[in-house]
Amino acid sequence: MNTIANLQPRYLHILEQTVSSVDVLAREAALAEAFDLGRVLLATAATPDDIVALHHETLEQYAQRHPYIRLEEVASRLTLPLMDLTMAHGMAFREQLQRRHQGEVAERLSHATRLEALGTLAAGVAHDFNTLLGSITGYAELTGDELAPDSVGQAHLRQILIACGRARDLIRRMLDFARQRPAAPVAQDLGAEVQATLAMLQPSLALDIQVQFDHHPLTGPAWVLADAGQLQQIVLNLCINAADALDGRGDLHLELGLASAADAAPPGHGDDFCLRVSDTGCGMPPEVQARVFEPFFTTKAPKGSGLGLSVVYGIVQQLGGDITLSSRSSGPNTGTTFRIFLPPLTTAPRKDSTNGTHPGH
Ligand SMILES: Nc1ncnc2c1ncn2[C@@H]1O[C@H](COP(=O)(O)OP(=O)(O)OP(=O)(O)O)[C@@H](O)[C@H]1O
Ligand SMILES: [Mg+2]
Repeated sequence: MNTIANLQPRYLHILEQTVSSVDVLAREAALAEAFDLGRVLLATAATPDDIVALHHETLEQYAQRHPYIRLEEVASRLTLPLMDLTMAHGMAFREQLQRRHQGEVAERLSHATRLEALGTLAAGVAHDFNTLLGSITGYAELTGDELAPDSVGQAHLRQILIACGRARDLIRRMLDFARQRPAAPVAQDLGAEVQATLAMLQPSLALDIQVQFDHHPLTGPAWVLADAGQLQQIVLNLCINAADALDGRGDLHLELGLASAADAAPPGHGDDFCLRVSDTGCGMPPEVQARVFEPFFTTKAPKGSGLGLSVVYGIVQQLGGDITLSSRSSGPNTGTTFRIFLPPLTTAPRKDSTNGTHPGH
């Protein structure tokens, strides 16, 4: 394996070629070799400081070998191989960064494609299931008509109908996840929707959960194009998950603002609104974080259906936004932050007296 010290003879050779060669072609070849060496140095994980050290040490060896040549006389010639070396190092470094970035994009894309396929599957299952459920409910009601009002059979039928109601709720969530288009997108003030949803949710949360919503540093409404029910679903699912993770005690903190550098917005979402939902709960280990958006993935079986976050994911995608999470499940400060990025409506909405607000033109 190449170490930086092993590469020194090669660099010395390059320097000698550059200084002593009178032939332009040979000098060009030496510079090309310097360029190659820059790439090799990157592969050995050399830093710019290592390169400067290599250059100095090699110069010393050069001076010992050629005591009759005054270094300052050739200094200007020696700048060239050094420049080529560092340039190649820098370019290769940039290529490496780009490759890593492309890898991440490809991974995100394949994740999105997988979720899309699951969405199609979920929609198909939901549709068939809905038909079956319709016939179960229908026959249960017909049977109820035949039985005496206070019979045991009636009590059993009520249980069947309650279970059918739950199943219908599941189907609705599967369809929310799978649906491609929002039902009725209009201009919504994201801040006002979050506030209203929290007001609805708060009474059902444990008393020792401190809920806080900071709506800053926005000066006006945070207009987004969405269906109010969709925004409600996002907030409800994230807050209920946070409350589950808090297990009765801790902080649930929501914050709405424009995406900042600290939010590390995914590409294309740097100018979006960012809704951060943080809890000081148990957090998630990396293997759970990798799967949370998959439909039916849950660590709360049999209580959880594992559809909450896949619904959120589906809605956020439909709205042209994105979602990220960061979480710590060990150490002193465990907890989770979900960030929802939603594109702002660029034109201010116009008030419509009959129908609430609509996006402007
Ligand atoms: N804030 C959080 N803190 C810790 N774990 C979380 C958090 N949010 C989600 N999770 C993990 O992600 C999993 C999937 O969440 P999701 O909301 O999709 O389903 P669920 O909460 O299990 O069930 P439900 O369908 O009832 O919402 C959870 O089971 C839990 O393990
Ligand atoms: Mg959930």
